[in-house]
Amino acid sequence: MNSRTDIARLQTEGRHIRITWSDHHESLFESYWLRDNCPTGEYVVENSTQKLCDAIDLPDELAPANVEITADNVVKITWRPDGVVSLFKPSWLREHCLSSTARKHRRRQAAPWDRASLAQIPRVDFKLLESLETLLKLFASVGETGICLVQNAPLQPNTVAIVAEQLGYIRQTNYGRVFDVTSEAGHSHLANTVRGLEVHTDNPYRNPPPGVQLLQCMCASESGGETILVDGFRIAEELRATSPSAFETLSRVPQLFRYADHDVDLQHSVKVIETNFEDQVEAVHFNGRSAATLDVPEDQVAAFYDAYRAFGKLVRNHAFRFEFRMQPGDLLVFNNRRILHGRKAYRDGASPRLLQGCYIDVDEFYSRWRKLQSQVAVADQPGQETLATQ
Ligand code: OGA
Ligand code: ZN
Repeated sequence: MNSRTDIARLQTEGRHIRITWSDHHESLFESYWLRDNCPTGEYVVENSTQKLCDAIDLPDELAPANVEITADNVVKITWRPDGVVSLFKPSWLREHCLSSTARKHRRRQAAPWDRASLAQIPRVDFKLLESLETLLKLFASVGETGICLVQNAPLQPNTVAIVAEQLGYIRQTNYGRVFDVTSEAGHSHLANTVRGLEVHTDNPYRNPPPGVQLLQCMCASESGGETILVDGFRIAEELRATSPSAFETLSRVPQLFRYADHDVDLQHSVKVIETNFEDQVEAVHFNGRSAATLDVPEDQVAAFYDAYRAFGKLVRNHAFRFEFRMQPGDLLVFNNRRILHGRKAYRDGASPRLLQGCYIDVDEFYSRWRKLQSQVAVADQPGQETLATQ
């Protein structure tokens, strides 16, 4: 007997069913949720996650009329008012338990870092990217720390696109499918000068801002140009701990970002700290260069600036900044909705410093990660497929 999936007690509580498991854990399941998610198959198209039945069409006042555990260890619920029967395997119920501990366990855990805790950037070798294990390590590093360094990437143009296509679909923008970061005389975009760039997330003026960014060093500078990385999640948590009201402001009052040139006028209003309904940090957007004129109610302006400046002072604090110098062939993959990146001012040698970059969205990135995980799980345990959740 597995005490995790062995039911010690099954009770109805109004429109809920409470299960006490043999390991003393408790789960509370609601009637509409149970009926809506019943995995017995009749409501779901086979080999798909698409539903044939909508919760809207279920009867009013749905509640369990009878619950029992059958001889073959299945939870059998007979519903009122319509007498329909639903069957659930205990293991399915445990796997989908909605208690806070179970939900926390299912969430992908980001591991916020600072200068003291990040010994080095997690890394993989380009030549090993064909192996599932290495690719999985890359996904997991970006999931956990927000970054992964791919080393020894060939210096052929568009290598960055080849790596990106293993992780998702390239998001084309007004900068192209792949863009060059290099200094050009007379260029008006600050990225394409030798100036330093204070740490930022790229393109918060797009909706949505790019999810994952790839940047490959094709040619290093003669001096300067070091990369600076800051974990936006770590900064947000530091702000939450040291200045809860500033955290609350930045997770509520949006900032307007804008980039305009001869061809485009991109604008997007987004919160510096994006939180989910449980107040967990989901994304950070920070870019002083593309901050546009704030457009919020008059009585919110002071609170916004105080909070923004508090966030920015933490970002500038060396305790949170990781600095390193990209070598030609280094290709950085990072979560652009979490990691702030920047560079120091530089001086070019005989060949100008050149980085090539591109963006991919996060939906496809997570989809490929889940598929890879289930491939590995199937290889480990034939006949079992897991569907990881984010
Ligand atoms: C950018 C950028 C980093 C670098 O172009 O947005 O962050 O090292 N560049 O040049
Ligand atoms: Zn950038």
